[in-house]
Amino acid sequence: DEHNVLTVTVLGCTGDLAKKKTYPALFALFLHEHMPPRTVVLGYARSPMTDESLRDKIRPALKGPKDKVETFLASCFFQQGEYGSDDPEENAESDPPVFGALGDRVAALEDSRGGGFRVTGHRIFYLALPPSVYPPVCANIKRACMSPTGWTRIVVEKPFGKDLQSSEELSAGISKLFTESQLYRIDHYLGKELTQNLVVMRFANRFLAPLWNRDNIANVQILFKEPFGTQGRGGYFDQYGIIRDIIQNHLLQLLCLVAMEKPCSLSPDDIRDEKLKVLRCIEPVSTDNVALGQYTNGPGGEAYLDDATVPAGSKAPTFALCVLYVGNERWDGVPFIIKAGKALNEHKCEIRVQLKDVPGDLFAEQKVRGRQARNEFVVRLQPDPAIYMKMTVKEPGLGMELAQSELELLYTQKYESTPIPEAYERLILDCINGDQQHFVRRDELVAAWKIFTPLLKYIDAGGMNPELYPYGSRGPVNADKLREKTGHVLNLTA
Ligand code: BG6
Repeated sequence: DEHNVLTVTVLGCTGDLAKKKTYPALFALFLHEHMPPRTVVLGYARSPMTDESLRDKIRPALKGPKDKVETFLASCFFQQGEYGSDDPEENAESDPPVFGALGDRVAALEDSRGGGFRVTGHRIFYLALPPSVYPPVCANIKRACMSPTGWTRIVVEKPFGKDLQSSEELSAGISKLFTESQLYRIDHYLGKELTQNLVVMRFANRFLAPLWNRDNIANVQILFKEPFGTQGRGGYFDQYGIIRDIIQNHLLQLLCLVAMEKPCSLSPDDIRDEKLKVLRCIEPVSTDNVALGQYTNGPGGEAYLDDATVPAGSKAPTFALCVLYVGNERWDGVPFIIKAGKALNEHKCEIRVQLKDVPGDLFAEQKVRGRQARNEFVVRLQPDPAIYMKMTVKEPGLGMELAQSELELLYTQKYESTPIPEAYERLILDCINGDQQHFVRRDELVAAWKIFTPLLKYIDAGGMNPELYPYGSRGPVNADKLREKTGHVLNLTA
């Protein structure tokens, strides 16, 4: 008789990501009974800890009934060790060999969970680590930790490099060790409920498809706004800036799902093939189509440069608006306005598809409150997930005034009793099930970097200065000007 045992090894288990996202997601899977039986979670880090002290550290981050928390924690263990060097020989010869104890511990846990049965051990290695240690860590997993009986999968998080070249260097090293089917590149925006709904919304409904093209759509906005700054993450953030942190990955992935053609099937590769085609149709973004900002003191808080972890005089953008064009038959000439900013006036992520003006408009004289109102199709990822359509209606009453109103689906109302899973919970489950649809393929990553690398180099070389905007404001004025230039019309909310 055989038993399957799953070991999830969280490398970097004492870090922020592990505590805030990985462990809570693993716990949620356990709580919602999606975790396979006989699953063990093994934390790995350099700092000395025990099973108990690791449990104490993560306990406060787990939300749920106390007995469930304790049952879950009883399957969490700790292993201390180094990450090793880039030189494989040095790792193998060091005494003790790097990851030797980790490999042994995983095997021992598999045996102990197997309860005397022959064990098929499936292994996930979750790299909650800075990418600088990916190369040695991957090499050491390959040398000392691959499952002899089941599958082995590697989960990595962005940043996957800083530009096309460094990303490809990283990929080349990792791809020598693992096949694409063993690699799970997380972009947690792909795990959000409303992101996953995009494919359904677009391809399971009749009424959208005929509108979804350059004949009807004036522009598409993809917006990300956060009301807080770098909050002590300045050291990381400053090396990357908002374009690498949010736009090149999260928002570009959303753009792909909005713009892609209908895939031949729902297979992960058919979908990713279509996303890739979109990316390959986008020209590298030109510097004329970019506005940058950096937050300074304002009503919401202190300047970016006052964050003690940010290097003095940094020009890193904490806000960017970029206009992209997808040069294919469906989208030629339609601006895709991508905007992301920290320390703004609200917390929001939305996709807004703005339709063109009504031709031969009967109501041209009666523009809503003095301004033209356009139909807009909005998908709000957060907060309050929603899908809504802005439309013009007659204002109720004796007059013949127009008003802009909404047809709306608010998830918290409609699906009140169905909790929306966290992105990481869903993505880890996909990884357990071997489903790569919501993970980024290497060729997608290449194509995404190609779009932004020239711009990023130009910015890094000091070619563009960010405009300062007050913490808690709408962002830099130049961004609004650039958006206006695309012909975007600001709709009034009724
Ligand atoms: C991360 C970025 O990838 O996404 C953070 O590094 C950002 O800077 C976060 O705050 C936003 O994710 P979410 O799910 O909170 O919108």
